[in-house]
Amino acid sequence: MPRKPLIAANWKMYKTPAQAQEFMKNFLPLVANHHRDEIVVCPSFTSISVVIAAATGSGVAIGAQNMHFADEGAYTGETSPLMLKAIGATHVILGHSERRQYFAENDELINKKLKSALHHALIPIVCVGEVLAEREAGKTEQVLLRQTRGVLAGIAASAAAPIVIAYEPVWAIGTGKTATPQIAAEAHAVIRNEVNKLLGAEIAANLRILYGGSVKPDNATALMAETEIDGALVGGASLDPQSFAKIVNY
Ligand code: 13P
Repeated sequence: MPRKPLIAANWKMYKTPAQAQEFMKNFLPLVANHHRDEIVVCPSFTSISVVIAAATGSGVAIGAQNMHFADEGAYTGETSPLMLKAIGATHVILGHSERRQYFAENDELINKKLKSALHHALIPIVCVGEVLAEREAGKTEQVLLRQTRGVLAGIAASAAAPIVIAYEPVWAIGTGKTATPQIAAEAHAVIRNEVNKLLGAEIAANLRILYGGSVKPDNATALMAETEIDGALVGGASLDPQSFAKIVNY
């Protein structure tokens, strides 16, 4: 069975609830008959509910950009998987490089969040990727292996089927520098090969690995033509309904 591509919007810290609603009003008609790919929109927490309401019946799924691993507790400022489930979110981005860079998230923490997301039946989109200095030092593979092993530590193959991995080279995020389809495909192969070792051939063969980093309407087709690339995690170009719809309809 071929892997169903997944195209996800990561809005980061953009859009008020009113702006999010306006986006959905304009975006949904543009993808109304789209069945080839799974479409996921990840707004900030304050807009998740309005976007879920707007997406009802559309087939577009809604996710969060982060969560805490605990069900509840004295964790000021955090949001739990139970809370996300309760409002109807189905997906969650975990370990985005901006979380790693600005909020000190590491593989160990991301691993806890991943286990919690699986426990609560939220579909996790787990991010890995090297920074520019690591790529230039020839350490990309080493970094991807360390992150892949770290985030998947202790996860059984029997629980791993929902996991989606996003390869986001940090040097390509928000910079306009996209990895070439070949560079992305090579990195994806490294990740898939490691997942094969850790979780077995079936999980590896069915694992969707998304590419993220300056995906735009004009490069989406070439990226998606790579058999190793199973979708995209889109930042800046997902903020505009026309632009994100063009990417979805690559
Ligand atoms: P850009 O598409 O803005 O480069 O962001 C990529 C990203 O970080 C998606 O999670």
